[in-house]
Amino acid sequence: MVSMEMRKQLMVGNWKLHGNLVENETLLLALATELTQLDNVDCGICLPYPYLFQAQKILADTRIAWGAQNVSQFLTGAYTASVSANMIADFGCSYVIVGHSERRTYSYESNQTAVIRIKRAVDAAITPIYCVGETLQEHAAGQTKQIIEAQVLALFDLDDRTLRHAKAINLVIAYEPVWAIGTGYPAEPNHIQEIHAFIRGLIKQYDVYFAEKLRIIYGGSLTPDNACSILPLPDIDGGLVGHSALNVPAFKKICHVASHTSVCEIISKTEIN
Ligand code: PGA
Repeated sequence: MVSMEMRKQLMVGNWKLHGNLVENETLLLALATELTQLDNVDCGICLPYPYLFQAQKILADTRIAWGAQNVSQFLTGAYTASVSANMIADFGCSYVIVGHSERRTYSYESNQTAVIRIKRAVDAAITPIYCVGETLQEHAAGQTKQIIEAQVLALFDLDDRTLRHAKAINLVIAYEPVWAIGTGYPAEPNHIQEIHAFIRGLIKQYDVYFAEKLRIIYGGSLTPDNACSILPLPDIDGGLVGHSALNVPAFKKICHVASHTSVCEIISKTEIN
């Protein structure tokens, strides 16, 4: 059995549709220097495709990984504006976000295409960060677990070989309640813990070992002010950070909490149930 201690925290910044060459350079150089001391957390950023080359140039030989925010479900061919897994692999990407709620909302991406994108990433040896989460309406209707279950179990539509490779390259699940993203109002810690444990339980039905080793990270208005109430919880293995990742001191503080959760007042695990 893998213990919780063996799951190193993972903190990934999602830059979304932000940045330009000049501002990125400042941000990337600052991250490269500011985050070097944090040895107990894996840090990364996912940025727009045109800047992957810049990230590769500046972050190579640092402890910070980089990745893309999506990947095409297609390998090659007449798919205008698509970017394949092999293309992002050419720029040294370690991670790719798949199924982000903004993609589901604005580009109508589904669980079915997310699973194909995951397969493309895995085949190119890029770790997918698979986003799941319920909308406000689904939350209000008490359908959270039903929605999450369908999203998570879609993973088991992957063929056995891909699933094996996905586990080998440490596929990550990000729980991001849609209503908490970019609102300044994160979900309550006990809700987050409950859903993360629920996700782990779903995976456990298929593979106990993978369930214990799987990193389930939280996203949705994670900030330096609330990191201590969320990151030390038993089933939270890091974060996917939007807004606060564009601010180096804020992102550094969150990474610091992830690296040393002991800096936080220990939250009694009995409070969580
Ligand atoms: P937020 O975004 O931190 O700005 O809420 C998180 C995300 O969309 O991944």
